[in-house]
This record gives sequence, C-alpha cells and structure tokens, in this order.
Amino acid sequence: MSPAPQDRWVFHRGEFVRASRAGLGPGTQALHYGTGVFEGIRAYAAHDGGDSLLFKAREHYTRLHASCRLLRLNLPHTVDELIDITRELIRRNDLTGDTYIRPLVYKLALEPGTPFGVRLSGVSTAVTVLALPMGDYSRAEGIRCGISSWRRVPDSALPARAKITGAYANNALAVDEATAAGYDEAILLDQRGAVAEASTANVFVVHAGKVATPGPDADILPGLTRAAVIRILADEAALTVAERTVQRSELLTADEVFLTGTGCQIVPVVEIDGRPVGDGTPGPLTTLVREVYQRAVRGADPRYRHWNTPVGLTDPTTDRSSAPA
Ligand SMILES: Cc1ncc(COP(=O)(O)O)c(C=O)c1O
Repeated sequence: MSPAPQDRWVFHRGEFVRASRAGLGPGTQALHYGTGVFEGIRAYAAHDGGDSLLFKAREHYTRLHASCRLLRLNLPHTVDELIDITRELIRRNDLTGDTYIRPLVYKLALEPGTPFGVRLSGVSTAVTVLALPMGDYSRAEGIRCGISSWRRVPDSALPARAKITGAYANNALAVDEATAAGYDEAILLDQRGAVAEASTANVFVVHAGKVATPGPDADILPGLTRAAVIRILADEAALTVAERTVQRSELLTADEVFLTGTGCQIVPVVEIDGRPVGDGTPGPLTTLVREVYQRAVRGADPRYRHWNTPVGLTDPTTDRSSAPA
C-alpha cells in the first residue's frame, strides 16, 4: 500500500528521504524570487496490469534541462539518471496505480561571497522530486471556461516555454478570477489579444473539420500532450493541425474546443464565456482523441509504445525494506 503523504519517499537534494524530513530553510532563494523550474509527469497503470508506464519521461526531462539552462540552474543529473530516480521513487512508494510526478529544480542558497539580492549567478541549485497518486480528474462531460482579463506573460518578459515557478503567479491569478466567476478554468490571451493557452493546458479549436492550435509564437508552453495530440490526429483522422494565430472570436464560434495537458489530459470545453461550444456537448474529434490518448498512455497502442517507459514495479533491486508496512 502507498504510504500516507507525510511518510511518502521524496528524492530531496541527492537522497531518498521521508516527505516529513525534506525540509528547506527560510532563506531558500526560489521561495523569495520564484527562481525555480518544474515538470509534471504522469505514470499510468499499464493496460495489461503488469507494470506502470511513465508517459514521455524523456521529453519531460529534456524540457526540464532546457528550463534549467534559462535560469542558470545547475542540474546535476542527466535525463537518464532523472528517469531512474523517478522509477525508483515510484517503486519505493509502491505507487502501482496512476501517479503524478513533480520534479522541481530551484535556487537554494547564496554561495560564499555572493551578496544578498535577486540574482541567478552565485546561488546553489537543489533538486526535489515528489510522486503522488493521481487518477483521471478530467471531466468527460466537459468544462466551462472563462476568457481571462489577465494576459499571458509575454516571452519578452518571462519565457512561457520554460516552466518557471514564479511565472505561475500569472496562471494562478487567471484561475482565481475564472473560478470566482463560476467557471472551471481560464483561457488566457496573449498581448495581441489572440488565444494563448489555458492555465496549465494548451487549447485546440475545431472548425468545419479543420483543427488549429496557437503556435509557439503565442507565448505558450508547447506542451508534450499537445505534440502527442497533433500526432494522433494525423494518424487517426489524417488531419494536419494548423499551428497558427487563433483569434478569440474563433473560440466563440468553434464546433469543438478541447484542452490538452499532462494533468488534465484531454478535456472537452463545452462552454466559453457563457456561450455553448458547438451544441454544448463534447464533439466527435475531441472524443476520438481522448480515447486514443488513453490507450496510448497505458501502452495499449503499439504505434505509441516509444512514449511509454516501464517503471519496473517488481524490480527486485528496489530497497523496500525501509518502506512503511
Ligand atoms: C502553462 C502550461 N501550458 C501548457 C501545459 C501543457 O503541457 P504538457 O502537455 O507538456 O503537460 C502546461 C502543463 O505542463 C502548462 O503549465
């Protein structure tokens, strides 16, 4: 059985420790200045019941390395090492069902001789990886979105393509506004007033059988789920997704809108700013993508096996002797 949250193993500053013992000092630099980067990765119970499968682990850790370069974070583990740490963490925690993994790399402490203040150089780096059980929370019946009055932070101010902790205050403001207004989620526009993305997901629109999603110049995080969906639509429906400017008015007149992200996976949007999307129910392309994606993440589709990394739940070399009973 998986341990209680305080007893869970975390990988913290080079070793596996209990969550309750993974402390950080009040001087932790990333806490003051938002100078950390992170990833969100899912592992899924395999369709044949034998193992757990990390989804696009290599791509997530490659993106984490890129985010670190932007913030001058000295990540001491290779992509392969990070994958191994993650597999070990899942095994130690006995996370046999669907799991969410949160790797975090952040500025820790001023190095000797570095003066107090906001900076990227002269500050040490720390790595923490958490894993927790997380099932499918996306709503098959669809969600209601509001278009945020908060604009997406432009790349010229804070790069959206890196998952920088401090930047998520922008997303939190948008979500807060949307939920206070009774919506489930926010869709943010970029500085031009074109569609950027949702708080932690990319946006797809369908018009008369054509599919579009905002391009990499729209201040989006180019999601790994987004890339998977572009592939799936090509394979399953012979559709080429247009990566282009998507106007706000296109959202309000679309036949289908759906969001993609590691956390929410594929979620239909059935209402935007009080107007139904299409007939107000999930559309056929959205439903198709949801189904193919669910098979892919569980290793049930041979075309997409290269996206799955087995955890090795029964690996005999895992030290489970110190795991809670
Ligand atoms: C701002 C933002 N956009 C998009 C996404 C979707 O990215 P991915 O599909 O790689 O999870 C996320 C989630 O990581 C996000 O935080």
